[in-house]
Amino acid sequence: MSKMDVVINRARLSLIQGDITRQTTDAIVNAANSSLMGGGGVDGAIHRAGGPAILEECKQIVSNQGRLPTGKAVITTGGNLRAKYVIHTVGPVWHGGHSGEPELVASAYRESLKLAVSKGIASISFPSISTGAYGYPVEQAAEVALQTVIDFLHQETALNEVVFVLFDGRTHGIYGKTLERIISKDAPTG
Ligand code: APR
Repeated sequence: MSKMDVVINRARLSLIQGDITRQTTDAIVNAANSSLMGGGGVDGAIHRAGGPAILEECKQIVSNQGRLPTGKAVITTGGNLRAKYVIHTVGPVWHGGHSGEPELVASAYRESLKLAVSKGIASISFPSISTGAYGYPVEQAAEVALQTVIDFLHQETALNEVVFVLFDGRTHGIYGKTLERIISKDAPTG
């Protein structure tokens, strides 16, 4: 599993290829839908691996506060996962990029990070939100995802590890190229 690591302020940002349900970070992030009742892709994998306790808490959340709006995040137990928590967020469905998709997918990452910090979580793993069933082009999603996380880590020092867990080689390669480009752009000149 090839790994790319960079240090951003007080945190380590890593890209790995693998299965997010195997991660040992304090929290893993689920690319859910607004119903929070599970689904396919990473949502299905997390509920399968984490067990019914996760869905029970999701049902409680929906009965208390209704469906989860796109770009927002909520937290549940990690159930049987090695991670203690699952942060569920809803990314935008891609409709061509002119319906607020970049802002909404950025919000999904930012709200997940803010929620993690508010719960004293120090390490978190993300999947590539919206780039599967929701059809967000990976190149564009990677740019927004990485820039949003990097900007957050420059402001906030409570997190010490953020891992992007990319499932397939193509997505992992695109995130790696994108991270290299962003880092070289931000690198102090001279
Ligand atoms: N670990 C890490 N990444 C994974 C895993 C896994 N076990 N399984 C799938 N992925 C990757 C996909 O390959 C894709 O790159 O997660 C990324 C996001 O794909 P989806 O899971 O389809 O999520 P998204 O595009 O945000 O669509 C969300 O799909 O599963 C339903 O209920 C979910 O309606 C919601 C929609």
